[in-house]
Amino acid sequence: MNAATESSTGRLSALAGPLLAWYERHGRHDLPWQTPRTPYRVWVSEIMLQQTQVATVIPYFHAFMQRFSDVHALAAASEDDVMAHWAGLGYYARARNLRAAAHIIVRDHGGKLPPQPDVLETLPGIGRSTAGAIASLAFNRHAAMLDGNAKRVYARYFGVPGWPGETRIEKRLWAYAEQHTPASRPADYTQAIMDLGATVCTRKRPACDECPLAADCRALAEDAVECYPYPRPGRKRGLRHTRMLILVDHQQRVLLEKRPPTGIWGGLWSLPEVPDGADPAAHSRHTLKVDPGALHQQPGQRHGFTHFELDITPLRATAAPVAGVGEGAGRRWCRLDDLPALPAPINRILQATKTHLEKS
Ligand code: ADE
Repeated sequence: MNAATESSTGRLSALAGPLLAWYERHGRHDLPWQTPRTPYRVWVSEIMLQQTQVATVIPYFHAFMQRFSDVHALAAASEDDVMAHWAGLGYYARARNLRAAAHIIVRDHGGKLPPQPDVLETLPGIGRSTAGAIASLAFNRHAAMLDGNAKRVYARYFGVPGWPGETRIEKRLWAYAEQHTPASRPADYTQAIMDLGATVCTRKRPACDECPLAADCRALAEDAVECYPYPRPGRKRGLRHTRMLILVDHQQRVLLEKRPPTGIWGGLWSLPEVPDGADPAAHSRHTLKVDPGALHQQPGQRHGFTHFELDITPLRATAAPVAGVGEGAGRRWCRLDDLPALPAPINRILQATKTHLEKS
């Protein structure tokens, strides 16, 4: 009998059986979005977890639920309010999509998340894998999920050669996900494969001696577990450099600039960036309308994005005390001890500025 037949007859496949037995004893059963497990909480957590680790997400999830307790509260909130609760999590399009999806859920779905994966997938920010995760976890629907953890487990268990970003490889991995997700316990299966990938079948130094699937794992039999999944061929993450101005006035206020809506940190407040090739002092005077005086370099910050790393060189100056100057569309002076939501590396830079000013 092949795996697809097993799943449709209610018998568990050779992968699903041991995985679910392991999950009972070793899986995670008390994550905040599991208690209580409502569709809204599952949805928000899955979006937060798309690019962020569980430990980082947990405090954000609690704060988000406190402020936006249901889909109506989220739909009624301003974008700034939602962004403020996302600041530091990164990948801010997720927050804008979440709010946009909340509007659609209220307008078109009576304020309830739809349980069907194909309908979930029409909502902003929900792709095939997240739709499968929400449908299975929140509604116990027979839907498959294929996130990074699941891809790694399948690639190793079936010894799938090739980079999972390639369509042909991804299709093969989806086929395994569809075949092995059991009709009887889809929610447990989805959580189980994520948990196995996160705690046992880890990218580096996997704990194969604790793995319920070790007996049939192809990669382990080849003694090549860490070779799967194959990495993206021949591409190194690029490094970009930028300079940012920390202009502080005599009232300990710093000039902030709103980022353009697209690109990194789209729509968030940040420090003014000096365009490539421009002179920082001239940019400050002519574009920001601030006389910077002497510029001092603060320690740099490196921040990793999906496709590149960003090296930030912060340049600090005491701005001449000229009230109102520099304010305008997309710019404002903010007290260092009362800053709006900022990207994490910008927060770190301004903390260092504050410490420096307190000492001097
Ligand atoms: N990553 C994505 N979804 C998750 C979940 N429900 N539990 C733990 N980690 C996850």
